[in-house]
Amino acid sequence: MKKAVSSFEYEVYESANQLNTADQLLIEKAIEALSKSYSPYSKFQVGAAALVKGGAIVTGANMENAAYPMCICAEGVVLSSVESSFPGQTIETIAITAKSSSVKLLSPPTPCGACRQLICEKENRQGRSIRVILFAEDTEIYVINTIKDILPFSFDGSVI
Ligand code: THU
Repeated sequence: MKKAVSSFEYEVYESANQLNTADQLLIEKAIEALSKSYSPYSKFQVGAAALVKGGAIVTGANMENAAYPMCICAEGVVLSSVESSFPGQTIETIAITAKSSSVKLLSPPTPCGACRQLICEKENRQGRSIRVILFAEDTEIYVINTIKDILPFSFDGSVI
């Protein structure tokens, strides 16, 4: 038996001013997307903005349903929207933010496991990693180089 360790590095910023202007714009678009959230049940808004190769920005927000398991996460909405508007196009960066009407977020929101797997499949399809920017109002900003850093041992469809 041997023991193995898995770890990863990510960037932590105090403020959006420390990021480049392209990232700052994506952050602004993710914040704007919060207003598109339909989340009357959780009152937890999630906004996402994807920078597509070529410069287009596509946004999305979570959409809930009275039948709770049918809730659709912001990340799934934005990935579907990219595929509809720019089929097969490469996503370079995704910014994700969240806002709750009842709780003040003390650290950046992180995507659920299912959304990590969705982003991972997109990375595999496009053969290129997607930078992920995570932040909320008054939190630090995390920049992760690839979703695989936060989805170790991800399921890879090539084994099927
Ligand atoms: N949600 C997202 O949009 N993305 C995630 O990665 C996790 C959770 C949404 C689903 C639901 O509308 C609300 O946040 C509370 O779970």
